[in-house]
Amino acid sequence: MKEKINNLVEEALNALDKAKKINQLMMLKSKYLGKKSQFNDFMKELKNLPNEEKPVVGKMVNIGKNKINQKIEEVKQKIEKAKINQKLKEETIDVTLPGKNISYGKKHIFTQTIEEIENIFIGLGYEIKEGPEIEEDKYNFEMLNLPKNHPARDMQDSLYISEDILLRTHTSPVQVRSLLENAKKKPVKIISPGRVYRKDDDDQTHSHQFGQVEALVVDKKTSLADLKGTLLMVAKSLFGEEREIRLRPSYFPFTEPSVEVDVSCYKCNGSGCSMCKNTGWIEILGAGMVNNNVLKSCGYDPKKYQGFAIGFGVERIAMLRYGIDDIRLLYTNDLRFNSQF
Ligand code: PHE
Repeated sequence: MKEKINNLVEEALNALDKAKKINQLMMLKSKYLGKKSQFNDFMKELKNLPNEEKPVVGKMVNIGKNKINQKIEEVKQKIEKAKINQKLKEETIDVTLPGKNISYGKKHIFTQTIEEIENIFIGLGYEIKEGPEIEEDKYNFEMLNLPKNHPARDMQDSLYISEDILLRTHTSPVQVRSLLENAKKKPVKIISPGRVYRKDDDDQTHSHQFGQVEALVVDKKTSLADLKGTLLMVAKSLFGEEREIRLRPSYFPFTEPSVEVDVSCYKCNGSGCSMCKNTGWIEILGAGMVNNNVLKSCGYDPKKYQGFAIGFGVERIAMLRYGIDDIRLLYTNDLRFNSQF
C-alpha cells in the first residue's frame, strides 16, 4: 500500500508537470484528489489496516495530497505567468515602425483663390454679400444701365429661363440689391463673390460657368484715386509687392469712366516675355466709377454720392498666378491637377 501511494504521488506530480492549460490542471486535480480518486480509495481502505499502520499510512496519504496540491498551485502560477507574457508579447507596439500615410483632402484652387480675394477685401473693411444665381432681368441688366435692347447686352451672352428670368451673367446684380435694400441710403462697402453663367462655347479660355468677385464702394467722396489706390493694393497682394498697375480706358454700361486694369508682368518684371506677349503688362480685371444712372436707379443721389466697382474673374486670376493654360482644368477634377495646389 505504501508503495502504491508513492507511485501514485509520483505519477500525479509527473502528469501535473506536463499540464499546459488551466482546464487540464483542473481535470488532473479531480482525477488525483477528487471523490472518485485512488486517494479516496486509500482513505477508505485505511480502516482495514492493522492499528499501528493506520497513522503511518494516513500521514503518507496526507503528505502525498499536500505535495499534489502544492504542485497544482505551482503549475497554475506557471501557466498564468506564461499567459501574461504571451499577451504582452502579442500586444507589443513597435513605436519605431513608420506610420500609415493618411492623405488629406484640401481646398480646390478655385476656392483657395476666391477666399484669398475675399480676405484681401475683408482686411480693407469690406462686407461679403451674396445673391441668387437665378436672377431677374431688371437686377442683372436694367438697373445697371442696360435697358432692354441695349446693344451692350451682347457683351454678355445670356442664358434665359423665361422672358424676365435668367442665370446671372455677372455678380453685379448683388450690388443693385445691396444698394436698394440700404433703406437709409448710407455708404456701402461690399464684395460679392459667386458663380455666373454665360452662353459661351467652352474652350481653352472660355467657360459657360465661372466665378466672379465684384467689389463696390459707394460713399460721399469716392474718387478715381481711391479706386486706383485700391487696385494697386489688391494687385500687389495677389501678384507681389513689386508690381505696378496701369489703367486703360474701357467701356462698361454700369461704370463711367471704365477701365481695364493691367499689372506689370510678374514673370519678366516688365521687360517683355511670352507671358505678357512682349508688352510687359498683363490684363487682370475691369473696373470703373459707378455710372450715375445706376446710382439713381438704386435711389442714391449722384450729386451727393459717388462709387467705384471692380470685377474679378476668379479663374483668370488663378490661371495667371499659377500659369494654368486651360480653364477646363479647373472643372474636370483630375486629382493630378488638383493636388498640385
Ligand atoms: N460685371 C462686369 C462683367 O462681368 C465686370 C465689372 C465689374 C466691370 C465692375 C466693371 C466694374 O463683365
